[in-house]
Amino acid sequence: MPGVVIVGAQWGDEGKGKVTDLLADDAAMIVRFQGGNNAGHTIVRGDDEFRFHLIPSGILHPDKTCVIGNGVVLDPRVLWGEIDGLRRRGIDVGNLRISANAHLIMPYHVLLDTAGETKLGKLSIGTTRRGIGPCYADKASRLGIRVQDMLDEKILRKKIMAALEPKQQALRELSVQRRKLRKEGEQSSDEAPDPRLDLHAMTEEYISYGHQLEPHIADTARLCWAALDAGQTVLFEGAQATLLDLDHGTYPFVTSSNPIAGAACVGAGVGPADIDEVWGVVKAYQTRVGAGPFPTELHDETGRLMVERGHEYGTTTGRERRCGWLDLVALRYAVRLNRMNALTVTKLDVLSGIDPLRVAVRYRSSEGAVFEEFPYHQSILHSAEAEYEDLPGFEGDITEARSEEELPANARAYLRYVSDFVGVPIRLVSVGPEREQVVWIGDRVPA
Ligand code: IMP
Repeated sequence: MPGVVIVGAQWGDEGKGKVTDLLADDAAMIVRFQGGNNAGHTIVRGDDEFRFHLIPSGILHPDKTCVIGNGVVLDPRVLWGEIDGLRRRGIDVGNLRISANAHLIMPYHVLLDTAGETKLGKLSIGTTRRGIGPCYADKASRLGIRVQDMLDEKILRKKIMAALEPKQQALRELSVQRRKLRKEGEQSSDEAPDPRLDLHAMTEEYISYGHQLEPHIADTARLCWAALDAGQTVLFEGAQATLLDLDHGTYPFVTSSNPIAGAACVGAGVGPADIDEVWGVVKAYQTRVGAGPFPTELHDETGRLMVERGHEYGTTTGRERRCGWLDLVALRYAVRLNRMNALTVTKLDVLSGIDPLRVAVRYRSSEGAVFEEFPYHQSILHSAEAEYEDLPGFEGDITEARSEEELPANARAYLRYVSDFVGVPIRLVSVGPEREQVVWIGDRVPA
């Protein structure tokens, strides 16, 4: 009864999509359990590149059931675009199932996300502006609209009406504040009613998505139970990552859901005993998009090299990612929070030619206190300086390596150091973007 969670160990973009795609070979079902189209994953298949924001990475396996779980917030316009794009490329999406209980991102969520960030100005979180936060906020306020509501026009209209009023009010207030900030005489379009907030048009639009998506809408928790009870492997695919977790990440510079492994149960509707393995995915160095603390960030040539060589630009927003040395203090924290049994290290090839390779092993606060563990206190984390262990670099093109022995000795030593430091075996190493560019260590599949 193997339930396997795949979780990001850093601030996202670790390459979870590729790992899910590989582990999916031996799975019957792949379930996305949180987040929305703030995520983005790219899968390379020969000359073809696929970019998804909502659809689970397993969709390229026609024999697998792909599930968008109840914990996801779903923008139907984006989902329909992805389904349509896949169909045009001849990919069958007949096995896609969407939880009837997943919450819908509405046009006002997107407007509120953008208006909220604009208001925060310099203090903004750097969200993806996809409406994720306001949608989860409505879910918690019991003002959310769910996938199943798209199947009943009367209910949908009533719920939109109830949710819309406070949003219009909030948006009005935000636009008044903006106007106050504007210079005298500047033209404003804020007074005109925003056509995106028209109750009738919104209801019509979402009813029409309901019709389009109806064949895919299901009681997805039950589908998971059936697969697990039949002894099939189910992969639970997280979006974003541990340090962006709403409760355990670098709050408030986090996303609005829980990407950690424990949340797979809530976001898919299974019990903790259904989870047998947790695979953490960690990049060989560190990246982050958006604002927030980043103790190992580099502002030098090495950082630039990581951006360029690692193509460190967001899949969703195109923003350049901040880059830095691998942070083992944060990784050890992520390992424990998720109780990982296995690690996958991605983008090791990017580090070739960099010497020495530095890894953060502790932090020092501005007062000189030493932190061996990830500090819970935001002020300490914001001003923490990382202290490093220097490891010898490796040279040459490692993208052709397919076994541990084919990796340079110093690359193996780097991996060994990481694994020993956090106490988890590395089971898979990615050495290039292609599906085949991996090195398995030990068993190929989850035990
Ligand atoms: P939100 O999830 O759009 O609300 O953004 C909140 C924070 O999470 C911002 O710093 C985003 O850059 C970050 N974030 C959200 N999704 C991803 C992701 O898939 N990869 C990396 N960062 C993300």
